[in-house]
Amino acid sequence: MAGGLFKRKSIDRIAKEADDEQRGLKRVLGPLDLVSLGIGIIIGAGIFVVTGQAAAQYAGPAISLSFVLSGIGCVFAGLCYAEMASMIPVSGSAYTYSYATMGQFVAWIIGWDLILEYLFASATVSVGWSGYMVSFLRDFGVIIPEIVAKAPLSFDHIHGWGFTGAVLNIPAMFIVLAAAAVLVLGIRESATANSLIVILKLVVLIVFIGVGFLYINRENWEPFIPPNEGMFGHFGWSGILRGAGVIFFAYIGFDAVSTAAQETKNPQRNVPIGILGSLFVATLLYIAVALVLTGVVKYDMLNVPDPIAVAVDFMGEELYWLRPLIKIGAIAGLTSVVMVLLFGQTRIFYSMSRDKMLPERFAEVHTKFRTPVFATILTGIVAAFFAGIFPIGILGELVSIGTLLAFVIVCTGVLVLRYREPGLKRPFKAPLFPFVPIMGILVSLVQMAALPMDTWLRLIIWMAAGFVIYFLYARKHAVV
Ligand code: ALA
Repeated sequence: MAGGLFKRKSIDRIAKEADDEQRGLKRVLGPLDLVSLGIGIIIGAGIFVVTGQAAAQYAGPAISLSFVLSGIGCVFAGLCYAEMASMIPVSGSAYTYSYATMGQFVAWIIGWDLILEYLFASATVSVGWSGYMVSFLRDFGVIIPEIVAKAPLSFDHIHGWGFTGAVLNIPAMFIVLAAAAVLVLGIRESATANSLIVILKLVVLIVFIGVGFLYINRENWEPFIPPNEGMFGHFGWSGILRGAGVIFFAYIGFDAVSTAAQETKNPQRNVPIGILGSLFVATLLYIAVALVLTGVVKYDMLNVPDPIAVAVDFMGEELYWLRPLIKIGAIAGLTSVVMVLLFGQTRIFYSMSRDKMLPERFAEVHTKFRTPVFATILTGIVAAFFAGIFPIGILGELVSIGTLLAFVIVCTGVLVLRYREPGLKRPFKAPLFPFVPIMGILVSLVQMAALPMDTWLRLIIWMAAGFVIYFLYARKHAVV
């Protein structure tokens, strides 16, 4: 049955489907579990890699201000996600919210866009993993030649595309394929494993901040906002804006807390706590890490695959024990982020396939493993392809712009729905309406606008491909 472009899925129907899905899922997660889940997804390649590179290329020490701006935007958007999640506590996240509020076409757009947030982000984090793994092995005398551990393509916004001389980033491809294999076998990271990894990540970053604080050389912060180099986004105030768009990547993931709504006790109360709590912890840590990082090392030396490790090297020989600790924390942390992102992608494909927007194979569950084998393997292979040939900057910026677009759509959804269906039960309401959703839209748009033209071009090409598939396939098959 073909669905109309603006046909909406009723909230009752979503609730019924959620009830069906609910069988087998127990409501076990409390507020602390959700904050921990959020931190588990949020803290990854963004802080361990992208921050250093963005400081080197766009904002210098003022990258910490970029974190403030981006964090404020995320709080506005987070409140909107929390409102949506409290009304529609199901696992499809922004895709399902949009189907209920803005209809089929927008739902498709966002589902397609979320591939950038999940699949491409898992590729991005894998490239970060590769950088820390290669560096860790090198400390033990195991040298992985650059030719097989680096993207063959390079890109900079001034000279365009080039070749690095490398063939493939094999460690990055390895980790994403290994994560997909583990998910196929049905091994999901347990809550205990997640908590351990979260603690490790937090300890590593807190030790980095605490010890690094003693090694800050104030001269590295001079000038705190390096003068603009004559082009928008290259230092100066416009560099802070662009930096915000780029390091927004580091915040991605808090929205995924809403996908655990069905496994949460009292989701109306706990999902907002999970979203805002994890965001709060991440923001504080990020600002502190950014200040220490650029205080210990001059920002122009941070365009490396393992900036935090480089900063530790700068602190001095006596900290030899901190080097492996940082790298193990990064490697373990990034592994779990890759897994959670891949898993999230398969859940979104599942929701889209159940609505027949994608072929049924995407929702097929393997009889023996009880996992969506097709969707998982396909996601793993495509992510491995991108992780193998593209540099982290290109991937990360594409993920950022795509996710910012999703935020704009979700905040718009909250706004529209309050006017159109004021009587709907909203167990959690974003405060200061309509200020919060409007600010969520505006701050996200500012960050998008500050991203480079070529990143926009890639977003436009990706979304145009999505339009074609919608009109050729999804629209014809979708059921509402
Ligand atoms: N926010 C996640 C990261 O930084 C995606 O890796």
